Amino acid sequence: MAEFDLIIKGGTVATASDTFVADIGVKDGKISALASTLTGGFKEINAKGKYVLPGGIESHAHIAQESATGAMTSDDYYTGSVSAAFGGNTTIIPFAAQHRGHSVRDVLSTYDDRAAPKSVLDYSYHLIISDPTDVVLNDELPEAFERGITSFKVFMTYDKMIVQDEQLLDILVKAREHGALTMVHAENNAMIKWMVNRLVDQGHTQAKYHAVSHPAAAEVEAINRGIALAGFVDAPLLFVHVSTDGGANAVAKARLAGKKIFGETCPQYLTLTANDLDRADPEGTKYCCSPPLRDVATQEALWRHLQAGTFHLWSSDHSPYRYDKSGKLMNGDNPPFNAVANGMPGIEMRAPLLFSEGVNKGRISINQFVALTSTNAAKLFGLHPKKGTICIGADADMAIWDPELTKVPGDNSMHDNMNYNPFAGMSVKGWPTMTISRGEVIVDGEELKAEAGRGQFLKRSPFDSTGYTSRLVPELVPATNFGAKIL
Ligand code: URP
Ligand code: ZN
Ligand code: ZN
Repeated sequence: MAEFDLIIKGGTVATASDTFVADIGVKDGKISALASTLTGGFKEINAKGKYVLPGGIESHAHIAQESATGAMTSDDYYTGSVSAAFGGNTTIIPFAAQHRGHSVRDVLSTYDDRAAPKSVLDYSYHLIISDPTDVVLNDELPEAFERGITSFKVFMTYDKMIVQDEQLLDILVKAREHGALTMVHAENNAMIKWMVNRLVDQGHTQAKYHAVSHPAAAEVEAINRGIALAGFVDAPLLFVHVSTDGGANAVAKARLAGKKIFGETCPQYLTLTANDLDRADPEGTKYCCSPPLRDVATQEALWRHLQAGTFHLWSSDHSPYRYDKSGKLMNGDNPPFNAVANGMPGIEMRAPLLFSEGVNKGRISINQFVALTSTNAAKLFGLHPKKGTICIGADADMAIWDPELTKVPGDNSMHDNMNYNPFAGMSVKGWPTMTISRGEVIVDGEELKAEAGRGQFLKRSPFDSTGYTSRLVPELVPATNFGAKIL
């Protein structure tokens, strides 16, 4: 009998810390050996001249998710996970969204029904909380944590999703108690509404005004407020899709001060600008996302933050609304910018865009690439070292990358259920050519080899706060607040 089910031979293996040439032996879905030469594989794959990297972990995607305004994202767990697999990912963590009045228990059971029969990749969810009632906080969230759902997202904007500061404090404290990580969409709701009203009153309704209506200052204010609130109750907080230099600076400053503050950014903010919204109506709607696309100076600043380590995550924020009546044009053939579903697709191009613009252009190392697309997500979301690295005992989740392969994707060249691609026409150098999940080749070149439903639900560990000192303000400590028990 063969000693290994699979040997990947002679590839350049890169983790978040090291780069080395090795053979990788896989047995029973796990990495069981790393050596300069291995023999005895039932199957062997020649990876000479290629990179062998940990499978990507896409931790920000909206799949089979209803928005608060009723639009449904176009990818289900089959097309979404297949597209992710072709982009070199082996794990996805989309959102399970609680809308107002809904029970978290029901929401999770709905998403279980959506994901289990369809996902080709291992998966978990972050819970979106829009209605933190006593039952949600005291019964349903603890149940979700018990199931290994150890992160959730809240919104500081959108009238139908927003949580007020007091509610955010309740959620942060609950998360702290259970060891969960709160993620936040940080934009100041009032500033946006104030801008939208003025723009619309003046007849400025074309898509390009979407960018104007979400000023950078709105993100910067909300990020600073989020840092203050999280610091006040000593809870970790992750700012998703950071799109401004000011917001990134606030994250960097908080980290320097030892706070449990984390940041994520996305390919669209480093490769597209607000000028992409300025197209003949209604094409600009394809580029409406929140926070919006910014400018070239911001792109340069965000690259510096990526290089300096401000950001832990590079995520797609895959929000697939088709360019038709089911998505972008659901409110008419030429909708005003404030009636357009927010978001754009990108789950398959997320990692190739960073490889091309980051690694191949010499902006970041291959190890930073691995950290940003895989390892850091595994660590932040309780999956490490089962996922996110190449080491003995880890799940054999890997992608083989050809660093020289160059493609110019078109509007329909992805495997998602979309009819446009915001990155179409860009020359992208460096693509995965094979994706391996738990030792099974699931994508080989252009061929999908995975069955719907093979993906497994991942029970995640609590957030690991090792290395972050707990600092409670005196007003929250009985010894210094005259004995009041606040937490
Ligand atoms: O425009 C976006 N990003 N839509 C998706 C929802 C969100 O805020 O992440
Ligand atoms: Zn968001
Ligand atoms: Zn999102």
